Amino acid sequence: MQTTHTSTKAEILAKQKQYLWPNHIVYYTEPLPLERGEGLRVWDVEGKAYLDFFGGILTTSVGHNRPEVVEAVKNQTEKMIHSSTLYPNEAHVNLAEKMAQITPGKLQVSFFTPSGTDADETAVFLAKIYTGRQEIVALRHGYSGRSAMGMTLTAHSNWRLTGAQVPGITHAVNPYCYRCPFKLTYPSCGVACAQDVEDVIKTTTSGKIAAFLAEPIQGVGGFITAPKEYFKIVQEVVKHFGGLMIIDEVQTAFGRTGDKWFGIEHWDIEPDVITMAKGIANGFPLGNTITTMEIAQSTAEAGLSLSTFGGNPVSCAASLATIEVLENHADPQHVGKMGIILRAGLDRLQEKYPVIGDVRGMGLMQGLELVKDRQSKEPSPEATRQLFEATKELGLLIGKGGLYGNVIRIAPPLTAQEDDIVEALDILDRAFSQVKI
Ligand SMILES: Cc1ncc(COP(=O)(O)O)c(C=O)c1O
Repeated sequence: MQTTHTSTKAEILAKQKQYLWPNHIVYYTEPLPLERGEGLRVWDVEGKAYLDFFGGILTTSVGHNRPEVVEAVKNQTEKMIHSSTLYPNEAHVNLAEKMAQITPGKLQVSFFTPSGTDADETAVFLAKIYTGRQEIVALRHGYSGRSAMGMTLTAHSNWRLTGAQVPGITHAVNPYCYRCPFKLTYPSCGVACAQDVEDVIKTTTSGKIAAFLAEPIQGVGGFITAPKEYFKIVQEVVKHFGGLMIIDEVQTAFGRTGDKWFGIEHWDIEPDVITMAKGIANGFPLGNTITTMEIAQSTAEAGLSLSTFGGNPVSCAASLATIEVLENHADPQHVGKMGIILRAGLDRLQEKYPVIGDVRGMGLMQGLELVKDRQSKEPSPEATRQLFEATKELGLLIGKGGLYGNVIRIAPPLTAQEDDIVEALDILDRAFSQVKI
């Protein structure tokens, strides 16, 4: 394919500096302007190819420019780009129907918005309206977005900018087994972190909460994965205190964790509300908050709501096509199988490189926590930096996260095949061999 860009790398980087806010997070010592993508490959403006194992932050779930998605978007764009949800449209209602079919339990009615932040905001106001209460319990190290509410729910100082802005939000410790907040070891800990939710409700709220909100696997937090008992214990506590269970699947939905469409299904609970975004439409802006008809009914009694771009027909058409590709070519079972191959390879790398303190995650959502040494577990953001530069050089895109900036996040498009995983593991192996701390 011919390159189509007209600006050089230097020009793009100069304009980035001159015209965009300096607080945009940009990867690499010298940022990497990308020009195009196809499947699991992307090309920079100088024509160098990279294997993409971060998928635009777990978003291009069926790979770059997947033809079926491109076709669906073209068709919808030619018919109508926008009408607003003042006028029902086919893509919007069909997507809502599809969501009701693939989400667990009695979740049936959707409210589409343009982002994950919006989806979480919508879930919280839903819980407040339904319960008539104001207090929310979230988790430390969680991430919920960049609005005032999103930043207050977020418990990761780097992402809170102005600090807490919305009253009534409190945080329990998270299920971070590698760095247990109670310095205990699973399973003899008795999942003390789940019990902490009760303590937090009893000590920092009125005891009458509107909801508990958490990610099944904390994404930005560094792919922190709760033990299998965790959410059942928490759900009992939350129900006892009259709150709704809001599960933020912005990163974990659509088969990402393998074998199930939604991450929370691995913990065998039925949430009252699920929020999702990122991988929902392969890169088109879309978020969704899905709940039961009974809970949603309370909003109609409270008043009206509208999201101008929410339920945009082009994003909805892209989402329908994305889900269809997943069903036909990369269903949760495929992701489960690929996840086993990826995880086995990462476990082998951990045996080889002491800098890898922990390997965790599920399916095609795997994290490596890098440490100075395994004894002290002191985080090594420097190793992360070196690995980033080395993988870039060798042609592999990966992500990072964690409170200490020392977790490598590996999350390729769900259409990844065994060959892609073998290639990524080989590059990671060569890159780790260059890391010196
Ligand atoms: C778990 C989770 N919730 C919410 C958000 C916010 O989504 P958005 O950036 O689309 O507003 C993110 C974004 O990374 C996320 O990871």
